Amino acid sequence: MASNEEIETCSSQIPEMGIGPGSDKKPNHYPLAVVLFDEKTLLPHQKKFRNFSFVGNPISIQQNWRGLGVAAVVWEAAVVLGEYLEQHRHLVEGKRVIELGSGTGLAGLVASFLGGKVTLTERAEALDFLRTTIETNLPKDNEYQIDIAELDWTKSLDNFTEHYDVILGADIIYIKETFHDLYRTLLHLTSKDTHILISCKIRYDRDSDFLNMLKKDFSLEEIFYEKERDIRIYSVYKKT
Ligand SMILES: C[S@@+](CC[C@H](N)C(=O)[O-])C[C@H]1O[C@@H](n2cnc3c(N)ncnc32)[C@H](O)[C@@H]1O
Repeated sequence: MASNEEIETCSSQIPEMGIGPGSDKKPNHYPLAVVLFDEKTLLPHQKKFRNFSFVGNPISIQQNWRGLGVAAVVWEAAVVLGEYLEQHRHLVEGKRVIELGSGTGLAGLVASFLGGKVTLTERAEALDFLRTTIETNLPKDNEYQIDIAELDWTKSLDNFTEHYDVILGADIIYIKETFHDLYRTLLHLTSKDTHILISCKIRYDRDSDFLNMLKKDFSLEEIFYEKERDIRIYSVYKKT
């Protein structure tokens, strides 16, 4: 991409969770302007592509913040979770893994590169984007086991009868109105042996409220904190 070009972007306001284009809470006001930008100063979400290398595989994710919002950009929680899994591959290798709110699917894709049997899940409206992103990034003739399925926390979970070994969730704690359904989804998918790994940035009190809510039926331990990106990873198990 050229380092200087004209793009349509949001105003000087930093797009935050819940007020960006395509986000779950519609903004009252989201002024647009055509500005000159320098690739180096672009916010990660405004970049057209995010490029990574995990488990020896290049990954290039084409973002679509303006079109699809939160589901179509890579959140740092997913990057940090992918890095953590790469350093702790036993957590997913040979395991049945499901990722909730996959977005671009980065964390789940890394889990499949590490030998997990992975199901990536999303809301219906974000599934085509997720499928295209994954198909683009799977090496040809690969033997990775990765599926994509619709799973909306607010809807019926009857299609999901399996208890998974591992549940991944990167930056999925952000809409208070979904907390009850996300909780219900976690309860539904877990047995006492299921290991839930939640990677998140605590932005608001409500995010901590959800983690505290979890303590009713789950035990929770912070197992990793990365200061630079302010991302925490929690290891969660259902109480017996
Ligand atoms: C902040 S994004 C994180 C995306 C991705 N996990 C990452 O870290 O890059 C939150 C994701 O949760 C998904 N999500 C929100 N509400 C949902 C619901 N009711 N059911 C399933 N997914 C939902 C959104 O579509 C979005 O992809």
